[in-house]
Amino acid sequence: MMSASLATVSYIGATILFILSLGGLSHPESSRRGNLYGMIGMTIAVLATVFGPRVTMAGMPWIIGAMLVGGSVGLYAARKVQMTQMPELVALMHSLVGLAACLVGFANYIDPVAAMNLSSAEKAIHEIEIYVGILIGAVTFSGSIIAFGKLSGKIGGKPLLLPARHWLNLLGLLIVIVFGYQFLHAESINAGMIGLTVMTVIALLFGIHMVMAIGGADMPVVVSMLNSYSGWAAAATGFMLNNDLLIVTGALVGSSGAILSYIMCRAMNRNFISVIAGGFGTGGGTAPAASGDAQPAGEVSPISAVETAELLRESKNVIIVPGYGMAVAQAQHTVYEITQALREMGVNVRFGIHPVAGRMPGHMNVLLAEAKVPYDIVMEMDELNEDFPDTDVAIVIGANDIVNPAAQDDPGSPIAGMPVLEVWKAKTSIVMKRSMASGYAGVDNPLFYKENNRMLFGDAKKMLEEVFVALKA
Ligand code: TAP
Repeated sequence: MMSASLATVSYIGATILFILSLGGLSHPESSRRGNLYGMIGMTIAVLATVFGPRVTMAGMPWIIGAMLVGGSVGLYAARKVQMTQMPELVALMHSLVGLAACLVGFANYIDPVAAMNLSSAEKAIHEIEIYVGILIGAVTFSGSIIAFGKLSGKIGGKPLLLPARHWLNLLGLLIVIVFGYQFLHAESINAGMIGLTVMTVIALLFGIHMVMAIGGADMPVVVSMLNSYSGWAAAATGFMLNNDLLIVTGALVGSSGAILSYIMCRAMNRNFISVIAGGFGTGGGTAPAASGDAQPAGEVSPISAVETAELLRESKNVIIVPGYGMAVAQAQHTVYEITQALREMGVNVRFGIHPVAGRMPGHMNVLLAEAKVPYDIVMEMDELNEDFPDTDVAIVIGANDIVNPAAQDDPGSPIAGMPVLEVWKAKTSIVMKRSMASGYAGVDNPLFYKENNRMLFGDAKKMLEEVFVALKA
């Protein structure tokens, strides 16, 4: 068993490693190191907690049993999950953090030892921690479950807009405040449980309502926002358990999630407050349809793989825009083979990455890094949007919403105002996808009907392999 001071030193060490981890994760080149720091930090944190002074031998079998069950489920899920299902898994994990915060809160409240020997002021603070902790935990729990449903397609992408929804939210807030007052002044634990339970139900409903009201196209912001909430829920749990490491770690996750949400909002030209309040992605415009709902409107010009290879061979500048379809087809390796072949022919090939391409932040960067694409040709949207007019061919691989000109041209579109990669400004754009189906936001894409656009229909991997063969011939 560890002494209290050794446990404290271990906690400080783990905290420093977590901060280094976040620093490392901010760039693809240092991200592996960042991950390693995080893993070492977490191992130290778990060991210092399990063998620390606050765990008795009697509790050990419970902890080991729980770790075995949790560890096995986590290992199974991590091995089984497809890269494209990652956001769902993350949403599900956020829900568990929220659930844990709720359970710890209730357990803490009914535990007669937890509030023993506390002065009345300390008791009030302890109860506020419990109330707020359960509140954040319950919103995170139910919100994340709905986000999981929406991301996995189990629940439709259409926003549910109840009449007077903002008033309903306000009413919920008032009830939470009134019952919070009742909870803090409760004479007994049984009486306090009434306020706590009513608040939990309201918070669960609020979480459901908040995420149900969000349109499909705005889901990325919701995922990072729930990430932030899960951090605050963990921090609240830390306060309830008097665990400094949990407070610091929760605050790190909470604030980095909030910064990520802000960056995503900026990338999608959304207002952070409106997203938090729910019901965003619909105001002013038509409500987004569920995926695949939009009807194609116009004639398209198809192109073959051989013709695509010819066009590429004759180009000087090529920009590749990958999207969700590249992830589905697992085409990143073939993309890189083509890139290498073109570079050997003296063609300048670069990748244009939209901040919300795919289904999770950094999705495309991860796939391209896995295929060993050099970082210096992978550019962010802002870095090369101005270069499209000087580009011979812009190839769009399984992307749709992130190259939709309607975001700029149609103020009524659900994605109006979202910055997009302006591939239509290239001399020729080629869109590689299987059909005329719409993307995640469920809107038609006028890019497909532009005069300088060609459609290469088929599975991205299969078509790219054909292009590669033709290129090598
Ligand atoms: P989408 O707009 O979803 O378009 C992907 C396209 O890939 C689809 O139109 C689909 O067309 C095509 N596709 C699917 N499987 C394919 C395959 N095997 N081969 C070739 N094509 C295939 O993707 P995007 O352009 O990357 O935009 C991302 C969207 O997801 C945005 O609306 C964003 O808001 C949302 N979103 C993003 C995130 C994050 S954080 N990145 C999280 C949640 C939601 P076919 O069916 O015709 O092939």
